[in-house]
Amino acid sequence: MNEEIDIQSIGETLPLLEGLRTTRAIRRLKPDPVPLALVRKVCEAATFAPSGGNRQPWQFIALTDPERRAWIAERYRKAFDTYIRPAVEAAKDPGFPEKKRRMQRAAIHLAEHLHEAPVQLFVAGWTRRGEPQAQSLFPAIQNLLLACRAVGLGACLTTIHRAYGEEIDRYLGLPEKCPSIALIPIGWPLGKYGQPPRASIDECFHDDRFGDTSST
Ligand SMILES: Cc1cc2nc3c(=O)[nH]c(=O)nc-3n(C[C@H](O)[C@H](O)[C@H](O)COP(=O)(O)O)c2cc1C
Repeated sequence: MNEEIDIQSIGETLPLLEGLRTTRAIRRLKPDPVPLALVRKVCEAATFAPSGGNRQPWQFIALTDPERRAWIAERYRKAFDTYIRPAVEAAKDPGFPEKKRRMQRAAIHLAEHLHEAPVQLFVAGWTRRGEPQAQSLFPAIQNLLLACRAVGLGACLTTIHRAYGEEIDRYLGLPEKCPSIALIPIGWPLGKYGQPPRASIDECFHDDRFGDTSST
């Protein structure tokens, strides 16, 4: 499949609003390789995001080496077992909504299979006055997720690697002033894109002042 990909044209025709309505967290990925040129393309799309003062603090590190991915995956899993798995256990309660349970199962799958994702993409960013510029990185990250959607790649924003953040950043060779903020596993999706579960706009759109919701 990879040999047939025309990097320049892939993903260029998906309507913007349709793309953003059907972008969801894809945590089940095929282990098949993804061309680095395509990863560069989605990272380039990310760079068109706004940032404070147009400082563009982002840096992207695409990890593809299997041993290095396994090293990262080990730490991700440890963080998951410490911080997320207890909540997942609680979700075994039969009263827990099925949609959330599905999400938990997918999160467990990712934690157990992260080493198989062909690309572990880290988004890092230069600090400003000693502080990370998260506000200026998340718009770029969202662009990246949308670009993955457009070209047909599966991706999911994750952050729990930060539990081992300093160790991981050293491993990636990141300068202290440029910590990683997100780890986005990328690969060809096993599942399909589609509309994610969201509350109705009626519940969060207010006409003139908070509390005045109107549906048309
Ligand atoms: C700031 C942030 C941090 C996240 N961290 C993780 C994470 O560490 N692991 C994970 O599996 N998903 C993580 N997610 C993904 C969310 O769980 C996901 O966006 C949410 O469940 C909605 O998914 P959907 O768009 O498929 O409905 C994170 C999302 C955000 C915005």
